[in-house]
Amino acid sequence: MSTAKPVKRITTHVLQAMKERGEKIAMLTAYDYSMARLLDGAGIDILLVGDSASMVMAGHETTLPITLDEMIYHAAAVVRAAKRALVVVDLPFGSYQGNSEEALKSAIRIMKEAGAHAVKLEGGAEVLESVQRIISAGIPVMGHLGLMPQSIYKFGTYTVRAREEAEAAKLQEDSRLLQEAGCFGLVLEKIPAQLAGQVAQNLRIPVIGIGAGGKVDGQVLVMQDMLGITRDFSPRFLRRYANLDELIDRAVKNYITDVKNCDFPNEEEQY
Ligand code: KIV
Repeated sequence: MSTAKPVKRITTHVLQAMKERGEKIAMLTAYDYSMARLLDGAGIDILLVGDSASMVMAGHETTLPITLDEMIYHAAAVVRAAKRALVVVDLPFGSYQGNSEEALKSAIRIMKEAGAHAVKLEGGAEVLESVQRIISAGIPVMGHLGLMPQSIYKFGTYTVRAREEAEAAKLQEDSRLLQEAGCFGLVLEKIPAQLAGQVAQNLRIPVIGIGAGGKVDGQVLVMQDMLGITRDFSPRFLRRYANLDELIDRAVKNYITDVKNCDFPNEEEQY
C-alpha cells in the first residue's frame, strides 16, 4: 500500500477560498511538459499556458500570430504534467473577439482537446457576450485587463496602462462586469499599483497581477523571464529568480569543449 499522500488539485473554489483567507496565489506560465512538471512539483498554484508562447516559444514579435491549434498543442503537454496546479489556457487572438459562437467553439476545443481546466481572454465590455456564453457552457473563465498584448497595435506601446482617469474608470467598470458575468478570476497587467489594489479590494474574485504591485491577491510572471532565460527583457516589475541563460551557456560551452577534445563520452559513458 502506498503511503504517499494524494495530491489535492487546485480548483477555482480553492482559489476563491485563498482570497477569502488572505493567502496569496502564485501563478507562472508554462508551455511544455518538462517545465510544467517542475513548476507543478514545486507547488505552483496556477499554470498559465499563455499566448506569450507566441513570443517565448515561437520567436514571434507579438502574441498575435499564435493559432488555436498551437495553443492546444502547448496546453495538452502542460495538462499531462500538472498533478496539482489549475491549468488556465489563453484563447488566442482571433479566436473569440466579436463572435461569441466562435468564442464558445474555441473554448470547447481547448477544454476537450487539451484537457484544460479554464480559459483566459483579454478585454471587458467588448467581449462580455463571449465571456457569458463560455461560462454558460460550464467553462471557467479568467479575465485580463490593463495592458492587453493582443491589442498592441491599438495601444502602440507596452507602457503602463490606465494612468489616465478615464481609462482607470473603464478598467474598474470592466472588472465589475467580468465578475458579474461569472469570471472566477482576473489578471491585471501593467497598471498603477494603487488602482490594482482598489480593483482587488472591490472584487470578490481573486485578482492576479503582473506589473500591478503587491496589493492584489496573487502574482503571475512569464517563466522564461523569472528564470532569466530571456536576456533582453528587463521591465521594472520583473524579479529574476535565476540566471539560467548563464548556466545554459556555460553547460553548452563545456559540452562543446568536451566533444571537440574527445573527453565525452568516457569509458563509463559507453556500452
Ligand atoms: O500570455 C501570457 O503570458 C499572459 C501573462 C503575461 C499574464 O497573459
